Amino acid sequence: MELHILEHSLKVASIAKEGIQICTHGLIKLAFLPSKTRCKFFSLTETPEDYTIIVDEDGFKELPQSEYLSVADATWLALNVVSGGGSAASSQPIGVTKIAKSVIAPLADHNISVFMLSTYQTDFILVRERDLPMVMHTLSSEFTLLRVVNGETVAANCSGVTNGFVKPKLVPRPIIHPLSSPSNMFCVTSLDPDTLPSVATLLMDVMFYSGKEMGAQNEDSGHIRFFSFSLIEGYISLVMDEQTTRRFPNNVLFTSASGELWKMVRIGGQPLGFDECGIVAQISEPLATADIPAYYISTFKFDHALVSTSLSMFGE
Ligand code: ARG
Repeated sequence: MELHILEHSLKVASIAKEGIQICTHGLIKLAFLPSKTRCKFFSLTETPEDYTIIVDEDGFKELPQSEYLSVADATWLALNVVSGGGSAASSQPIGVTKIAKSVIAPLADHNISVFMLSTYQTDFILVRERDLPMVMHTLSSEFTLLRVVNGETVAANCSGVTNGFVKPKLVPRPIIHPLSSPSNMFCVTSLDPDTLPSVATLLMDVMFYSGKEMGAQNEDSGHIRFFSFSLIEGYISLVMDEQTTRRFPNNVLFTSASGELWKMVRIGGQPLGFDECGIVAQISEPLATADIPAYYISTFKFDHALVSTSLSMFGE
């Protein structure tokens, strides 16, 4: 198995709901006019609290500095597991459940904080740039480590790493943050970038103007406002609830995985911050043990697991 260390230098930021207007100019460019920016990694997730942005350095320049924008003070690198090794043709995306034991648990055991972004295509494990030597040390026994440099994948050598790999003690990992489960169900889907213009106005409505209509009524019924859009290396991924999918014309959203509905488990009572480690591991390890497929999306304040409902241990 190969672990790719992508070259994007990423920032994780939050835009306050009341400040979204001053950012829409940049966000529309990042989401819908990729040829007008050099941004290669962009993700926008709306939750009841705020909008979370994960964006590379070029994309970050499109956002205004403002009191409404809070930026987590680290630079993050995205890791991506590619199974099969060798040629790109044999590369296939795999679910977060499949990387729970090989990537997420060992990083947690070595006290490395991660920030997860699952997409339709793959699962990105974000780690802080300054933790990279330790990350490489931790994962070098399980993976061939490759680094993307100027678009080319080259062997990453684990220099400066001491021998004598310390095997961490296998301590139990109880779930320590409160969980909640909204009543709406979610789709993880995608669309062909060529059809993006045909649904751009709908997407703008969903991203920037649909919050108010949902209102308190929906929150009372246990629905959560959650929508995620990402455009990463030319691939679009969308996570939206079932109700929102019905607003799209037939045959625009990819159906292979989106036919399936996922139950959301929200993790955290107080905002989780960026330093604590092991949260993703606490959730994904038991799911992996039970072989339950799951996606995982971290946002600025909370984490979100999307769990397959066909076998869900969280199902109602
Ligand atoms: N750092 C956590 C972990 O290592 C996951 C991210 C939680 N924080 C957040 N703001 N969503 O498991």
